[in-house]
Amino acid sequence: MRFFVLLLLSVASLCAAMRVAVTGTTGLLGRQVIERLSNKNIKVNALLRHPIDNSVTPSIDKDAKSTQVALYLSQLPGVTMVAGDATDLASCKQLVDNCDAIIAAHGPVKPPPIQSLFRLLSESDPVHSRSVNYVSVQNMIYVVKESKSCKRIVRVTGKGEEPTAFFTVLINMLGNMAKAWNYEGEQLLRTSGVDYTIIRPGVMGRNDIPTNKVRALADNGQDLKVTAVTHSQIAELCCDCLDYSNAAKTTLTAMNVDEGLGEDSYAPLLENVKADSREFPSTLLEEHKRGARNGAVILASFVAVFVSVSVAVLKSISGFVLGIFH
Ligand SMILES: NC(=O)c1ccc[n+]([C@@H]2O[C@H](COP(=O)([O-])OP(=O)(O)OC[C@H]3O[C@@H](n4cnc5c(N)ncnc54)[C@H](OP(=O)(O)O)[C@@H]3O)[C@@H](O)[C@H]2O)c1
Repeated sequence: MRFFVLLLLSVASLCAAMRVAVTGTTGLLGRQVIERLSNKNIKVNALLRHPIDNSVTPSIDKDAKSTQVALYLSQLPGVTMVAGDATDLASCKQLVDNCDAIIAAHGPVKPPPIQSLFRLLSESDPVHSRSVNYVSVQNMIYVVKESKSCKRIVRVTGKGEEPTAFFTVLINMLGNMAKAWNYEGEQLLRTSGVDYTIIRPGVMGRNDIPTNKVRALADNGQDLKVTAVTHSQIAELCCDCLDYSNAAKTTLTAMNVDEGLGEDSYAPLLENVKADSREFPSTLLEEHKRGARNGAVILASFVAVFVSVSVAVLKSISGFVLGIFH
């Protein structure tokens, strides 16, 4: 009995001492990660791009504004807000101060489609996907290597090994090559030598997952059929994977599957994941770029055909109407 009490006390004190750095603070995923860590008595350094506004009503609801979410999170026990941007090395250094791990749940804000289609933004711009999905990861690897305490980077990306898949092309075309740069960020982690857990979730944002669906994980970046997953499930995975040393140097695809094929929680799945061992393709960037270029040509051809057919139809209608009145 005494042994178990001591064991519980030491686990509790370990949790209490732990501090995790989180990015994507006000995002739908990041906010749930931070709330979950705070509930587990884990201290949090949360990177915040906007100033705290004490005049708003704190809220973490799906439709709450960033300022409301930031204020809500800043009031949670153990949460410290760190002002900065993941694309800025100095911010990342400050963020990981005294932390044991980073959960990087940030991602580019959707650009106006015209800006992305016509490549109006330079790759070096801080809001370009290259900066947000690649340079930020480079920064994190740098600061983790310098840090004495920080031992793991958990990075949320997405499926991105099929440069010509429909949704990949679409997201690359309309999102400043977001998929391509997320994959390149993954490659940085895999070749960095630091302990990482890359999480490739399904489609987040729907909360009406059927009750007969359960969690599934595929390690080694293997494929699973794309399904809806909730932000809360992926927040659970981001936090829980820190407890598993065998989840270091893994690339995990996280989807939902039919009952009987998966588990109700991530614990039994995480117990069995293994470090990456296959050869991940190293030359996908050019293929991603080619896929997006071809997609843009196809889209432009559709638009040209649509416009010329519409003009022809309008011309014949106006000719017909004018004929009636003459
Ligand atoms: N939604 C999906 O279905 C899905 C699927 C697969 C993967 N993912 C990836 O999962 C991650 C989180 O998804 P989500 O739904 O939570 O996205 P989200 O709600 O759009 O949140 C993105 C967060 O990233 C932050 N951010 C953007 N640029 C940043 C920068 N330079 N430095 C620091 N923070 C920055 C934003 O901060 P501000 O509030 O300051 O703008 C926002 O808090 C993203 O990386 C996304 O690409 C999403």
